[in-house]
Amino acid sequence: MFNILKSFLGTNSILGVDIGTASIKAAEIVQSSPKPRLKNYGILKTYSHLSRPNSAIQANSLKIVEDETAKLLAELVKKSNFKTKEAVASIPSFSSFTTLIEMPIMSEVDMIKTMPFQIKQHIPLPIEEVAIDWIKIGEREDETGKKQQILFISIPKEIIIKYQNIFKLAGLKLKALEIEGLALIRSLVANDPTPTLIVDIGARSTNIIISDSGFLKLNNFTDFAGASLTQAIANGLGISTRRAEELKKQKGLKTGGADFELSTLPQPYLDVIIKELIGAKNRYENNYKRKIERVIISGGGANLIGITEYFENQIGIPTVIGNSFLQVNYPSSIQLVSRELGPELAVAIGLGVKNLS
Ligand SMILES: Nc1ncnc2c1ncn2[C@@H]1O[C@H](COP(=O)(O)OP(=O)(O)OP(=O)(O)O)[C@@H](O)[C@H]1O
Ligand SMILES: [Mg+2]
Repeated sequence: MFNILKSFLGTNSILGVDIGTASIKAAEIVQSSPKPRLKNYGILKTYSHLSRPNSAIQANSLKIVEDETAKLLAELVKKSNFKTKEAVASIPSFSSFTTLIEMPIMSEVDMIKTMPFQIKQHIPLPIEEVAIDWIKIGEREDETGKKQQILFISIPKEIIIKYQNIFKLAGLKLKALEIEGLALIRSLVANDPTPTLIVDIGARSTNIIISDSGFLKLNNFTDFAGASLTQAIANGLGISTRRAEELKKQKGLKTGGADFELSTLPQPYLDVIIKELIGAKNRYENNYKRKIERVIISGGGANLIGITEYFENQIGIPTVIGNSFLQVNYPSSIQLVSRELGPELAVAIGLGVKNLS
């Protein structure tokens, strides 16, 4: 039942579904050459998380409001007129556990023998309560010899069951689950070997990912994200979070004159995120002796006006907004209405192109 993490989809179209705190996003992807084709997409936003944090789509990892989420997902499928019923969904970083280990290079047979022991050592939860997957992501040689790097991914079975229930209730077939970090690398980096720092700023959490040679090397998250910026504006100006959310989207960081105060209010929170990014970058560079060469920002938070300049100044390396549409073809009938969609749909598109390309 729990081989859902490791599956070959064996289908020629798939719905990538990203259930976030503030919205559900889906991308319908069809097998095609040379690139997978984006057939259709849809986004359903909810503002309820602003006034009542507990009513967010995902209040926390163990309290997904199943029925409510299933209803929203069914509504999105209907509205967007998706034809594909088979889906892949993402598990947010705060609901999964990833760890990178190094071990000697060995045969496949020996790997299978040693894995239960490795898992017991590295996964903090009781083994019967989690589903586990591992991926070989690289090799490295040091004075003690050649080693392989293995990424362990574990997800509580309770979370998997919740996702299965939600998709079933919404009339979809959940074929696989994947952590957001892997989906983001697929849609934003693909095979580009450049050491890259990806920062996905959602409403509730910010994912920090390092990709090198196209592999996930580090996956952290922080609770400072879009909602923290909104809250800072609401508190600073003494206004409602709904109004603060509007102002944040309208004005962003590039404001002068009368709006000066507004533009400075979110900065302390952005600085916390940046501090985490610099910490991850320094750790990686020290451990692996590789320089991170660029930053890619995704998630709804990437659309904050002025964010690339702000990040580039503070971190000191080239920073761009992620464009997940580069990995797919799309018919002219699909209007990519705005530049904002490229970073927002990054997880959904990354999920959809899994095993299809
Ligand atoms: N134009 C904009 N300017 C500033 N912030 C924006 C803009 N558009 C969206 N956001 C912010 O992006 C956040 C939502 O991003 P996203 O849709 O990626 O979140 P999510 O995936 O639902 O949340 P999470 O990943 O944390 O569960 C909100 O905090 C929203 O205020
Ligand atoms: Mg998200």
